[in-house]
Amino acid sequence: SLPLVIAVDGPAASGKGTIASRLAQVYGLPFLDTGLLYRAVGMGVLSAGADLSDEAAAEGVARALDADGLSDDPRLTTGEAGEAASRVAGYPGVRAALLELQQAFASQPGGAVLDGRDIGTVIAPNAPAKLFVTATPQVRARRRWKQLHDRGDAITYEAMLADIQRRDERDAGRGAAPMVQAPDAVLLDTTEMDIETAFDAARRIVEAAR
Ligand code: C5P
Repeated sequence: SLPLVIAVDGPAASGKGTIASRLAQVYGLPFLDTGLLYRAVGMGVLSAGADLSDEAAAEGVARALDADGLSDDPRLTTGEAGEAASRVAGYPGVRAALLELQQAFASQPGGAVLDGRDIGTVIAPNAPAKLFVTATPQVRARRRWKQLHDRGDAITYEAMLADIQRRDERDAGRGAAPMVQAPDAVLLDTTEMDIETAFDAARRIVEAAR
């Protein structure tokens, strides 16, 4: 049978990460959260003492990135890391440096699940199954706020909503691989769904596509 490559794109806190990792579990496929790569580059720039506006520094960090163990690093799940990620993600040199690694991951014999912003458009344009997962900014801000709040973070809902809207604008408005639904991706709007309902819908979309 053909390798099952599942591309899951969409904005922050849409549910795409949970959906993608559960699809990987169900189909027994390797899973890559590509946002972690950009988060690691952003935090790498900061810990090198460089500025996020320093494109050459960001590209250098991206070229030297070791992708192993990123999912165990708690610093990469912070709001600071997300913000730093979306700054460096606009640099074409950073995206080029991370391209090969992601495409190699997507080319494993049995397939793979990748989540991000440009998987269905740039990284794996031939993926048989593509989802674009969204929800309103208000619902996404509420979800992310609750996650951070439960972890003891003092951020307000209003600040979270402003963060999400700024990040959406930056990710959708950039010239290099902007966040956009691939023409052949299926739109999954999770605004009115809990995670179980959203996952069931995602699974049906994959079943219909494979
Ligand atoms: O998905 P996550 O919130 O971890 O991504 C952090 C940031 O990394 C995004 O806001 C986006 O700017 C960038 N990103 C990207 N392309 C991807 C994954 C993430 O530009 N494939």
